[in-house]
Amino acid sequence: MKGMIFTEFLELVEDKFGMEVCEEMLDNANDEGIYTSVGSYDHKQLVRLIVELSKLTSVSIDDLQMVFGENAFETLLSSLPVQENLGDSTFSFLQTVEAYIHKEVIKLYPDATPPRFEFHLITESTMVMDYFSSRCMGSVCLGLIRGCAKHFGEQVTVNMNPVAGKQDHIRFEITLV
Ligand code: HEM
Repeated sequence: MKGMIFTEFLELVEDKFGMEVCEEMLDNANDEGIYTSVGSYDHKQLVRLIVELSKLTSVSIDDLQMVFGENAFETLLSSLPVQENLGDSTFSFLQTVEAYIHKEVIKLYPDATPPRFEFHLITESTMVMDYFSSRCMGSVCLGLIRGCAKHFGEQVTVNMNPVAGKQDHIRFEITLV
């Protein structure tokens, strides 16, 4: 997984929980905490860090993933070299992520494996989006969707249901309020 995801995560932990918790988390996960935004690292190490942070803070793993996603949205967005024609709403932006943004990510970093989305139902107020990823980071996805809605000044409710009981395929039902 790209280092920018790790550096963003460490910054957020320091911001929200302080330097001491951040260092303890790294120690407990046997992690030296040396990440560069252009490097590539095993995504399991991010999962390990989140598990340790959850033990230290008593915040659930899902909630930590969600807050991380919500906060990471603006940084990911500003890392894109092109800022035009990315969509002007939550629904259109999410389609751009699948059709263009994550594809650009793979072109830039051939070792990256962002998730895949499929869109099933799109009306003015509802969108059904399936998330596929062996990394099973559905709660990060939920946070990113919320961060995206915040960016466009839209209020949404998001239902999240694993398909066939597995976390590698999750159905999101997003409704504009
Ligand atoms: C609402 C918008 C977005 C959603 C829902 C989304 C979803 C996700 C999720 C859930 C992951 C974690 C990996 C996984 O689950 O397999 C991910 C990874 C990633 N996304 Fe997105 N994303 C969004 C926007 C963006 C934007 C704007 C960028 C801009 C560069 C971006 C770049 C990346 C990168 C670099 C990774 C790491 C891939 C890797 O290293 O293998 N995403 N995305």
